[in-house]
Amino acid sequence: MAEVFPEKPKISEVISIVAHQLKNPIAVLKGYLEVLISEDFGGINQRQREYLKDALENTKRMSRIVGYLLDVTRIEEGKYELKLKSIDLRKIISEVTNEFSDWVRASNCEIFFKKPKKLPLVLADPFKIRHVVENLISNALKFKPLGRGKIEVSLEKRNKEVLFCCKDNGIGVPQDDFKKVFTKFYRSEKSMEVDPGGTGLGLYIDKATIELGGGKIWFLKNKDQGMTFYFTLPIANSLKH
Ligand SMILES: Nc1ncnc2c1ncn2[C@@H]1O[C@H](COP(=O)(O)OP(=O)(O)O)[C@@H](O)[C@H]1O
Ligand SMILES: [Mg+2]
Repeated sequence: MAEVFPEKPKISEVISIVAHQLKNPIAVLKGYLEVLISEDFGGINQRQREYLKDALENTKRMSRIVGYLLDVTRIEEGKYELKLKSIDLRKIISEVTNEFSDWVRASNCEIFFKKPKKLPLVLADPFKIRHVVENLISNALKFKPLGRGKIEVSLEKRNKEVLFCCKDNGIGVPQDDFKKVFTKFYRSEKSMEVDPGGTGLGLYIDKATIELGGGKIWFLKNKDQGMTFYFTLPIANSLKH
């Protein structure tokens, strides 16, 4: 791979090149595993299915990590770009909560989405904003309390913005760590026990996505238990005037 590196590469260049090189092999691996699981090329037994599914899950995880690393290097080099469109955040949240429904059930949690009847469209990158929503809800799920987890997601119009909230009753972030929450690779000690496989890159990328799109992202510790994460995004037609 020596020929693809510039003479004295910066660490971010190395990460970016390696991540690009890994992208295709991972995609090929994922494709083959999916074909094998589909049994289009012949039947598989229960044990083989379990192993293949496990391999597929881990391949997806690798793909996510590579995606994160590419985003981080783009952010650091000022090359992170959004493809802005008018979107309905209600739809994205409904899709993400559906996508997580098996996980929610399996982890003794419940999610309430207070879906407003009416909500203006916001200006955002549909693909990237979905990642933000997925990360905030998956964090609430991963860092659940020992007992039953309760997550409340809501959306509301506030002046020329839409406000997103995701409230949980989980393990929370220690007060001393508050300043570090949106920094790269931050993970609280407790969260490393609960989810050893995390990267600590999600919130760093979420912040870039929201702020580049003209919004704000922050959190508050709940009075009783857990955290609430918020972000705002500009209403689609509010920028025309
Ligand atoms: N809802 C939450 N409850 C408790 N801790 C959280 C929550 N959301 C984020 N955190 C803390 O912030 C860290 C960074 O989150 P994130 O960047 O999404 O990384 P990851 O999900 O890979 O751990 C987490 O590892 C955890 O320590
Ligand atoms: Mg996360």
